[in-house]
Amino acid sequence: MPESLTKLTYQTFQQGKNYFGLAHKILSSRLRNLVYPTLEEKTKPIPDELLAKLQQRLNQLLETDWQDAQKGVCPESLLFDNPWDDFFRYYPLLWLDYPQTWERLKQQNYQDFSPEIDTDGYPSYYVQNFHQQSNGYLSDLSANLYDLQVEILFGGAADAMRRRILAPLKQGLKAFESVGQTRILDVACGTGRTLKLIRAALPQASLFGTDLSPAYLRKANELLSQIPGELPQLLQANAEELPYVDDYFHAVTSIFLFHELPAPVRQTVIEQCFRVTKPGGVFIICDSIQLSDSPELAYMIDSFPETFHEPYYKHYTTDNLVERLQGVGFEHIEIQVHFMSKYFIAHKSA
Ligand SMILES: C[S@@+](CC[C@H](N)C(=O)[O-])C[C@H]1O[C@@H](n2cnc3c(N)ncnc32)[C@H](O)[C@@H]1O
Repeated sequence: MPESLTKLTYQTFQQGKNYFGLAHKILSSRLRNLVYPTLEEKTKPIPDELLAKLQQRLNQLLETDWQDAQKGVCPESLLFDNPWDDFFRYYPLLWLDYPQTWERLKQQNYQDFSPEIDTDGYPSYYVQNFHQQSNGYLSDLSANLYDLQVEILFGGAADAMRRRILAPLKQGLKAFESVGQTRILDVACGTGRTLKLIRAALPQASLFGTDLSPAYLRKANELLSQIPGELPQLLQANAEELPYVDDYFHAVTSIFLFHELPAPVRQTVIEQCFRVTKPGGVFIICDSIQLSDSPELAYMIDSFPETFHEPYYKHYTTDNLVERLQGVGFEHIEIQVHFMSKYFIAHKSA
């Protein structure tokens, strides 16, 4: 297919996902307001000029995504990767789960777990219904719905945002070009989407993933075991105590974790990531935008934790992560912002 046609297909595919997400959000909030009219004032509509800004940022992200693929950062086919099976299997279940999430929002009950879910041994900050999610991160249903929920939230751009770690990751690994096989750890890998992207961009690397949720790790294993080649090693572990020796990884990544951690835990996790990164290695955080880099989106940044249960988000939005990274020893920290995400690319001195 000529390049211009493939690009148009990609843009149409993404725009389709964006419209679908928008339609879903409108429909689900109308239905919620019908069933729970008292919740209506909690969710403020996004003003039109802000929607236009968001569309502009989304278009920029998609252009960068396209250009990176053209430069060979990842195969072009990755831009069209979409978990269709999961979509058709789980989309109806998303709707069936809504009444429980709305009830939780109404009751402000965010430690609501079914009796069969074992919450023992998890840190108390974690035993929460983040985003009002049924059984938090601790059930198979939650793991099956998660990617769909994130896609709807970001108008189909979640993977495009995750893909922005690939260029700095490959750049960071250039320091180890003479090494046969590099080791990359994804901290809080969730359902494994980022590891899948890294595998496509770096087929020879040894991949590792940790997460606290056994259900999400099971889902990650299901996804990653479909890919030929070496299977990433997945471990259930708290990011506060990474079960690896010092200086083990050539690169460490962490996607959408830090806004879900209390500030002191954020600090400990950064210390752990520094400890397990090799001298000369790179550590990449991708998380929500913050107020300092996106003041024009302050309205959305402020209203996000009112709509979604995100107890540590507000503090995260003003937390100086650069200072934290430098404080533990990282240097040459580069910041990037793409659509709704911010990237911290930090290096450990050789
Ligand atoms: C918002 S999700 C992000 C998942 C994935 N990185 C992604 O890109 O979608 C947050 C993830 O962090 C995990 N998590 C939260 N606190 C953790 C901790 N202290 N240690 C390890 N994983 C944690 C959760 O289980 C969940 O999978």
